[in-house]
Amino acid sequence: MAAKVGRWTGGAETENAMEQEHAPLWQRMIDCIVEPSLSDKDVLDYGCNQGGFLRLLWQQKPFRKGMGVDIAAESVANAESRKPDDALSYRTLDVLDDCEAAFDVAFSHEVLYLLPDLAAHAKTMRCVLRPGGSYYAAIGCHTDNPFWENWKKLIAAYSAVPVQTYAPEDYLRAFDDQGFSVSVRPFMLQDFIPVKPDNAYMPRVVDSIHYHTQYKLLFRFAV
Ligand SMILES: C[S@@+](CC[C@H](N)C(=O)[O-])C[C@H]1O[C@@H](n2cnc3c(N)ncnc32)[C@H](O)[C@@H]1O
Repeated sequence: MAAKVGRWTGGAETENAMEQEHAPLWQRMIDCIVEPSLSDKDVLDYGCNQGGFLRLLWQQKPFRKGMGVDIAAESVANAESRKPDDALSYRTLDVLDDCEAAFDVAFSHEVLYLLPDLAAHAKTMRCVLRPGGSYYAAIGCHTDNPFWENWKKLIAAYSAVPVQTYAPEDYLRAFDDQGFSVSVRPFMLQDFIPVKPDNAYMPRVVDSIHYHTQYKLLFRFAV
């Protein structure tokens, strides 16, 4: 089990900015869920940071119980203090040791590229999901994203954990090896995409279009 860290990045300010930037992407993930309803499902958000994804999911597709987990203890405490209902809880990673077959649907948004051992992660997810369960993992950080060489330096400058370099096939193989049936779709954000001048990650306006429609992927790992 990885050691806990306080926060992921340069503190609350950075995490609040990430929360705002990621909200439209969380919405897209929710729109891509194939399960018609989550009302009888227990859900997990792996790498939940300050908990925003599960709060949005709760508003739009209420679930039975939802848990967010993260390596960053202060971010988890922030999430726990903002939860709208006791059906949601936020914990540090070690809670998963006692979660065998505890969830029906799991999510992670831009977390896999920070995990030093993808095989161990796939094994954990196989263990915590019930038969028939599924795991949606959104990931734009991979070697077939032409911006990645630059991004990995930018992210490494402030990430609290080392940044890994994976190809999409590394994600595929890790989950296939654990017996998941793997499918993938382009994330294909179908909305106005927020753009700002002087964006070090996507300097040209068309970079934002290409990233959100072509390079960012949404995997579905089904048990
Ligand atoms: C880029 S942020 C994404 C956060 C959130 N999913 C979102 O969409 O805003 C990556 C998150 O993964 C968490 N993280 C990093 N390593 C982790 C690990 N080994 N296990 C669980 N979470 C981890 C970080 O603390 C951080 O909150």
